[in-house]
This record gives sequence, structure tokens and C-alpha cells, in this order.
Amino acid sequence: MSRPFGNDDPMLGGPWAPWPMEGEIHDCAVVGEIPRELAGTYYRNGANPQFAPKGGYHFFLGDGMVHAFAFEDGRCHYRNRWVRTPRFVAERAAGEPLFGNLFAGELPDARAAGVPNGPANTNVVWHGGKLLALVEGGLPPVELDPDTLATRGIWDFEGRLRRPIDPETAKLLGVDPAAGGEAILTAHPKLDPESGEMLAFGYSAIPPWLTYVEVDRAGRLVRNEPIDVPFPSMVHDFVTTSEHVVFPIFPATLRPERMAAGESVLGWEPELGTRIGVMPRRGGNADVRWFETDPCYVFHPLNAYTEGRRVVCDMAQYPRLPLALPGEEGVVVASASLVRWSIDLDAGTVKQEALDDRAIEFPRLDERRTGLAYRYGFAGSGGRGAVAGFSEVVRYDLASGAVAAHRVGEGDAVGEPIFVPRRAGAPEGHGFVLVLVWRAAEDRSDLLVLDAENLADTPLATVRLPHRVPAGFHGNWRPAA
Ligand SMILES: [Fe+2]
Repeated sequence: MSRPFGNDDPMLGGPWAPWPMEGEIHDCAVVGEIPRELAGTYYRNGANPQFAPKGGYHFFLGDGMVHAFAFEDGRCHYRNRWVRTPRFVAERAAGEPLFGNLFAGELPDARAAGVPNGPANTNVVWHGGKLLALVEGGLPPVELDPDTLATRGIWDFEGRLRRPIDPETAKLLGVDPAAGGEAILTAHPKLDPESGEMLAFGYSAIPPWLTYVEVDRAGRLVRNEPIDVPFPSMVHDFVTTSEHVVFPIFPATLRPERMAAGESVLGWEPELGTRIGVMPRRGGNADVRWFETDPCYVFHPLNAYTEGRRVVCDMAQYPRLPLALPGEEGVVVASASLVRWSIDLDAGTVKQEALDDRAIEFPRLDERRTGLAYRYGFAGSGGRGAVAGFSEVVRYDLASGAVAAHRVGEGDAVGEPIFVPRRAGAPEGHGFVLVLVWRAAEDRSDLLVLDAENLADTPLATVRLPHRVPAGFHGNWRPAA
């Protein structure tokens, strides 16, 4: 098993082992045939620390590395680059890590003073003519050159992403309230397929605990509104429909006062239950209605839609926060499965219904149906689960209940599947599923191009890399112009 840093941290070996090189491969080796219709670039982000961590490591904290697969005329060209965040640049100059494991309460080196501790490792999104590397805390979006992956710099929407803060908080932080607070954005914005808007939010342990953000189709931030939530929570993702914005607030609470006691800022308070805020798209904070359901946790929803007086949300739901908190070592980390929430806007109730019982994560859809009634969903399933690598990609047909699966070899690990339509105007679900597979025996990766309608079949094309792409987080497609 590859262990580039020589330690036995499971998150730094096997499918996780960081890849230390940046480079490009012109015209990758391919088994099968890349469909000519596949024209555009698949970008994928993930944690890939440049240095062996001094203390403990957590994969949420590793430096972001973006891998790009550009498809053109039946060929694929590959490139990878680290995201040059301020932290990456400072640590490279120092020749060693300056930041410790935030989750374990390790403090940064004095040389890190003033350097934001954001890794930009979670997602990479194309919107408004910009390619943005995203992380949910510690750093605004980082803009990358879509062709070379060179870092262009922090993109805070010309300052508009700075959070509106009240005078009291400003005083506490010692900042000018007019200048605003931190500029932060979820790594999971939603792109409205009809309006072209990017809908997003930011969350923080410091008020305002949640802000709602709208970016128009041209990439201009037009709204940054505090939303009053019942308690401060770690909000990884959310859902939007053509009519509503849904803020799921789970009892994974963020309490700065815990840090004063030397504990993790993040805690689990199931007695608070799960609160679901539903806001009309054209409304604001004053129009948010709150619904309550059992405690649970969701990192990633599949999709949501509004149907009459009902808001339907399909979620990859865990029975609890699937992270071991300090003092919880040895707790069995639960797996997520697909659960449908039906929020009745008249009755004020939330009904939960299990759609399937298999363990899944990283759900995606044909994103031309984001926020709309839809039929197909895709996800990773089985194997070591979550981001450590699934053993198969599944396709849900939510109309028939059928589930198709594409299984990879024993020990091999697949990541997040993404869907690419065969062509503009193709029916929902007609197209390709792209997914990276780590080949355990060879310690290298392939990118599979699967026929979404015949998922179990031999891949249409297998792009063979000579090296590994470590297990990572999320990616997206940018169609060719
Ligand atoms: Fe995520």
C-alpha cells in the first residue's frame, strides 16, 4: 500500500495517498471509444496535502488538488494542479506545514498569523464564466484558469460576499460593520437550470449563523441576506426548488464556547431535533417557515422539487452525524441511505419515507432537473463507503423503483459519479456517467465513461491514467463552448 508520508494514518494511504506531482497528459490512453458527443471538461477536487501533517490529519483539511479531464473529438487530455490558496503558498515558502489539525484543537504556527486556513478542496464549479474551487469554511472561492488550472486568486464577488454583520458582532470581532464579516460560501451551490442563477449560502459559528446568497447568471452577486436559524449548525449542503429554498438545520451544533473549554466547536445535540426552513424563492428571511423532524444528518441531498403545496426533498440521510467527535472514538460511523421528505406546507408536517435501504453517498442527478420533478438519481454505494471509495455506482429510477449498478473490481474504489447529457435537449437521464476508479492492485486510477441508460454494461470508454487520483470529494462538468 502506498504511504507517501510514511505514517500509518489511514487517510494518507491506499486510495487516500496524496499524489505529489502536477502535470498533464496529452491524449490519454483509452480502452473502448470516447463518444464524440462528449465535449467539455470534467473537473474534480479533493484533499491532497502537500506536506506530511505535523500532528493529526483530517481529510477535510488537506490542500485542494483539481484534476481536469478535457474531452474533444473522441480524445481526452488530463491535467492536475494544486489550488494555490494563501495557506498553500505560505506553507510552500516555509517548506513545512504551519497549520495543525483544527479538529483536534492543534494551534497554527506563529508564522501562519494572518494567513487564512482554508484548503479550497471540496468542490469545483463552473458558473458565470468562472471556474471556482470551493470550501465551506475559512476561505472565499478561489478562481482557477479553466484551461491551465492555474490559480487566479480569491474571488469574493467584488467584496459582495462579505457577510452582513450587526454592530455588536463587529465590535466583538474588532471590524468595521460597514465592511462586513468573513466572505464564505458553501461548497454546494445550486445552479438553477431555468434562470441560470447560482443559489448558495454561507454558515458560521459567529452570527449571522446562516446567510443566503444569490448570484445571477452573469456571475454577479445580487443578494446576501442573513437568515435567522434556531441554532448555529454545520450546514454542508441545502436544496432549492423552482419555488422554494430549503435550509436543513441538523443538530450538529457549532458552539464557540466549547473551544474555550478546549473542546471541538462542533457537537451533536439530538435533543434539538432537525429543523427545516422553507423560504419562497422570491421571499426573504421574514418569510421562512420552520418545520421540525427527528434528529438526523445529511451531507448531500439528491434533489428537491415543489409539487402543489408539498415540498419534496430526497436526501442521503444518516441517523446521526457520521463523524466521531472527541470522546467518541470507537463510535460506529453510520451510513446514509435515500430518504424522501415530504413537507406539507398546509399541515405544517414533515413525512419521512425510506426510498431504499442500501448505503449510498455522493448523490447526483441530471442537473437539468435541479429543483424540478425528476426521475433519475446516481450515487456511490457499497465498499468502504463515503469518500474512502465505493464498490459500485448506482442509478435510481425513482419512477419504477428500479436500481441499476455498475460494480468495479474487488478492492477497487469509485468516487462521486457525475452525469453529462448526451446532447442539449436530450431526455432526462440520456447521456453519460463519469466516475473515477482507483485500481487497488495497480495503485493508479481510471476514469470510466458509462452509458447512463445501460449503467451495468462495460464502460463505453476507460481513460487510463498511469498514476492515482486520490479519493476525493466533488466535481462538475463544463460543457465545451
Ligand atoms: Fe460535499
